[in-house]
Amino acid sequence: MSEPAVDIAPADGRLGILLPGLGAVSTTFIAGVHLIRKGLGTPIGSLTQMGTIRLGRRTDDRVPFVRDFVPLAGLGQIDFLTWDIFPDDAYQSARRAGVVAPELLEQVRPELESIVPRPAVFDDRFVKNLQGTHRKSGAGKRDLADQVIRDIESFRAESAANRLVMIWCGSTESYLEAGAVHASLAAFERGLDNDDPNISPSMIYAYASLQCGVPFANGAPNLTVDTPAMIELADDRRVPICGKDFKTGQTLMKTIIAPGLKARLLGLDGWFSTNILGNRDGEVLDDPESFRTKEESKLSVLDVILRKDLYPELYEDYTHKVSIHYYPPRGDNKEGWDNIDVVGWLGYPMQIKLNFLCRDSILAAPLVLDLALFLDLAQRASMKGIQEWLSFYFKSPQTAPGLYPEHDLFIQLMKLKNTLRHLRGEDLITHLGREYYD
Ligand SMILES: NC(=O)c1ccc[n+]([C@@H]2O[C@H](COP(=O)([O-])OP(=O)(O)OC[C@H]3O[C@@H](n4cnc5c(N)ncnc54)[C@H](O)[C@@H]3O)[C@@H](O)[C@H]2O)c1
Repeated sequence: MSEPAVDIAPADGRLGILLPGLGAVSTTFIAGVHLIRKGLGTPIGSLTQMGTIRLGRRTDDRVPFVRDFVPLAGLGQIDFLTWDIFPDDAYQSARRAGVVAPELLEQVRPELESIVPRPAVFDDRFVKNLQGTHRKSGAGKRDLADQVIRDIESFRAESAANRLVMIWCGSTESYLEAGAVHASLAAFERGLDNDDPNISPSMIYAYASLQCGVPFANGAPNLTVDTPAMIELADDRRVPICGKDFKTGQTLMKTIIAPGLKARLLGLDGWFSTNILGNRDGEVLDDPESFRTKEESKLSVLDVILRKDLYPELYEDYTHKVSIHYYPPRGDNKEGWDNIDVVGWLGYPMQIKLNFLCRDSILAAPLVLDLALFLDLAQRASMKGIQEWLSFYFKSPQTAPGLYPEHDLFIQLMKLKNTLRHLRGEDLITHLGREYYD
């Protein structure tokens, strides 16, 4: 029996995508959207654009595209608003990032030049290795939040966008643990009034976004919306939120390989991961405080997937090391090396070596697109608060307090697609499959 479909408002009109941080990821995403619109590129890596979804029985042969199955904004319906501490427009910033080839950027140059970032809310304490001057000044954190709210509302009025979503694509901020000021919305608002040092710029954008009823996703590992205060605000305003930290590159590979090792009950002695990266993100992560935020996000993945509490003989004592080295000649083309020491039958050791020559922002851009379109869908389907079904996109998925996150990429994909089936009143797919043999 199918479930009743959920009421979803149509994706009519325009969708404004708000991006704090106009760096490599944002410009690769924006340039890509414009190139794809013009038929000059293909949205490879995007589930909303290229993915399909099986419905009903395997014998039914019903496998529509995701974009035809749920109502999503089309690429031609998107507008952009950005903020950055550097005043460069999206064309200049894309040239600096060096990800998309100059000849391709020329094809969408006017569109990119028209995207000029608003001055940023910035605090050097949270990002030490960047010196940008394109910043807001204000009487305090409350005033800065009000200025971001005004930016959002003026963009809403000036653009024809009738719906908005915000995706944090700014730099990784220094490590911060949730404290008293994040414990409730009232405490957070007092903190804004008192300029509490534990309120970071990303939290100010997130607060402004949620106050404006705008869904928020966090592409970096910062705490940002992963606090009781922001969860409360998202619930109050009936707005969807999700995070943290786009799952690309090495961690993507980890969450593909580790579930396979566990499925075959192969043990693990150690997993050594190292990277070289030369973009501005790499420069920011060269600061130990910013790297600590990233490290926490990268390290948790294996523990959760492997469950040493259930499999002590296999996973009790493995060593897990992760490092990132800032190496300017590589630019955005990260190279990652993994050495995986695995253990088989009778305890015999084996090794897997992985050398991933990836392009960081090429992997991240389709995630920004999918998150924007799915968060907008969630909003139109009246889904509020933490959107765990979007864990598929994150290294550190945000979950309900006390619930461990699901890191296995294949379980995450199943959860995402079953959520879409549920929204449309289709049977969930369990892969039990008894009906083919009864
Ligand atoms: N590329 C990937 O594969 C990937 C994966 C996971 C997470 N991320 C995260 O995504 C974020 C963006 O990555 P990127 O490669 O585009 O980095 P980037 O350094 O090229 O871009 C970040 C931009 O944010 C700006 N910025 C910093 N603080 C800001 C603030 N408070 N307000 C507005 N702008 C601010 C910087 O000036 C910079 O232009 C980083 O936090 C990164 O860690 C990227």
